[in-house]
Amino acid sequence: MAFADLWASLLPLGRHPPTCGYRRFSWTEADAACRAWFKDQALKRGLPASCDRNGNLWAWWDCPGSPLGAVATGSHLDSVPDGGAFDGPLGVVSAFAAIDLLRARGFVPARPIAVAAFTEEEGGRFGLACLGSRLLTGAITPAAALDLRDGSGVSLAQAMTAAGLDPGGVGPDEELLAGLSAFVELHIEQGSALAGLDARLGIAEAIWAHGRWRLDFTGRADHAGTTRLEDRRDPMLPFAATVLAARQTAVSHRVLATFGKVTARPGAVNAISSSVSAWLDARAPHAGALDAAVAEIRLVAERHAEKHGGRCDIRPESFTPRVEFDPVLRDRLANALAASGITAPALPTGAGHDAGIIAARLPTAMLFVRNPSGVSHAPAEHADAADCEAGVVALAAVLEELTCR
Ligand code: GLV
Ligand code: MN
Ligand code: MN
Repeated sequence: MAFADLWASLLPLGRHPPTCGYRRFSWTEADAACRAWFKDQALKRGLPASCDRNGNLWAWWDCPGSPLGAVATGSHLDSVPDGGAFDGPLGVVSAFAAIDLLRARGFVPARPIAVAAFTEEEGGRFGLACLGSRLLTGAITPAAALDLRDGSGVSLAQAMTAAGLDPGGVGPDEELLAGLSAFVELHIEQGSALAGLDARLGIAEAIWAHGRWRLDFTGRADHAGTTRLEDRRDPMLPFAATVLAARQTAVSHRVLATFGKVTARPGAVNAISSSVSAWLDARAPHAGALDAAVAEIRLVAERHAEKHGGRCDIRPESFTPRVEFDPVLRDRLANALAASGITAPALPTGAGHDAGIIAARLPTAMLFVRNPSGVSHAPAEHADAADCEAGVVALAAVLEELTCR
């Protein structure tokens, strides 16, 4: 099937018309529609599909009689709240399209090819990014994962049960991992480096160290119209000071620090808040710089909370160290692309990916597709059709190189 038709078949699922963004949160109706789409595409191609114990989807181009480990490709289908269409789905759609291209050419792989769609990559519902790949590889314990809660207090265990999966089965899957020899994730670029280099495609060289921290500022609820300024214990003030300090720290340490989610309780316009919870996302080229920046932000938060008669409790929710992608596999990708006349510069990225988690267990690489808007995690995220098609051609060349023997 042509890339454009395949892409169009997924596009309406989980789209939120008022914002034009996507709300594909794991184990919801939108997620079920995406999963049904995946299974349907696998079925149309005669690829046996399965859902692993951790909720990740797999479609297999089997290679009967081959004792060799499969090459996996794919990405994720979930989104951030009001995310763009490409982050994740481009890798899954391109994987099916690349298989179509290889088959149309009569290519027969010497080892299996697997298409994967990892669950809850964004942490959009349960707060922990790359949950499916972390569970698969043992980067998180089953107990810690099952106890994660969404914004309504529903646990992962409850959500999986409601979706018909046995939460008792989650955890490392050594048998599945042992059957894989490499993973290649194609992804939209989440910045504009390729546009600046006038290149359609890139090869990832590394993922920055990154993590999420939850900050709970507590104070005292009171009346907005009668409480004198000097009598207030308003947690919004230390929170605001921390947001500004995080920006300054990011500049001085040359890292990234973002507060993108905040909840004030009880949330009344005419009341001082009793507490404010906020989530810090911080990223840096190396873990040392990240640690130093977060320590500085923590000090500011605690100092300002105390100044305003409250307190601030900070706890890490996730951390992923810097990941260097396998240099041998990267060279094989670069050579396969060069042989097909494709130039693909090497790029580092501050975005997290399942590939960064899988890299701890398997030779792993990533291909990036140019994003002319440079915008991601927002509806303006975009890749031109011609660049997506170039991505499919490149992925097919890479899969051919990695599975021809
Ligand atoms: C995922 O896309 C992330 O970088 O948070
Ligand atoms: Mn993302
Ligand atoms: Mn992604």
